Amino acid sequence: MKFFIDTANLDQIREANDLGVLDGVTTNPSLMAKENIRGAENVKKHYVDICNIVKGDVSAEVIATDYEGMIREGKELAALHPQIVVKVPCTKDGIKAIKYFTDHGIRTNCTLVFSVGQALLAAKAGATYVSPFIGRLDDVSTDGVELIRQIVDVYNYYEFGTQVLAASIRHTMHIIQCLEAGADVATCPLNAILGLLNHPLTDIGLQKFLDDYKKVNG
Ligand code: E4P
Repeated sequence: MKFFIDTANLDQIREANDLGVLDGVTTNPSLMAKENIRGAENVKKHYVDICNIVKGDVSAEVIATDYEGMIREGKELAALHPQIVVKVPCTKDGIKAIKYFTDHGIRTNCTLVFSVGQALLAAKAGATYVSPFIGRLDDVSTDGVELIRQIVDVYNYYEFGTQVLAASIRHTMHIIQCLEAGADVATCPLNAILGLLNHPLTDIGLQKFLDDYKKVNG
């Protein structure tokens, strides 16, 4: 399973990248706004900055909601850097735009996916990634991880090439559950990635090793 970080914060991206296990980055307009990145040119520059930190795919989302606007913005984003994957919402115009991008060799991430039906349309349009939002489903008393399992099963059965990118991950258990469900990618906040390291027995065991070493080495 590939590991992406879900942020537009350059320090967090650097910190995750320094671990040596990062495969890419996802952003969205809310994450860009959180970093106070204003204006189209600054947004584009920020995407390039992210691409220069990590080696893997970087999702950059279109703002337009109409087909022509999505095509125009998506082409501009894709031209910024070879690592850019154009993120497109799962709407009627979005699916049409994904099909256009697929036919023109531009990689896509179909976002805001909350059902198997939407994932089917994304795959049929040739999306590189599909992003089911598991945390937001959990927020409305619906099992987000179960949706990952269903999409993985359907994609495997019909041999779709679209990769399942589990998004809206909130904590370490989500990551583990997505791993077990067969997700191709998990995009996670930095604290969830670092949270995977935590175990009291590791801390206790390390302290004992150091204490025993000191006993004989002074
Ligand atoms: C990533 O691609 C999504 O935009 C992101 O994971 C959404 O997460 P949220 O539901 O925590 O905003």
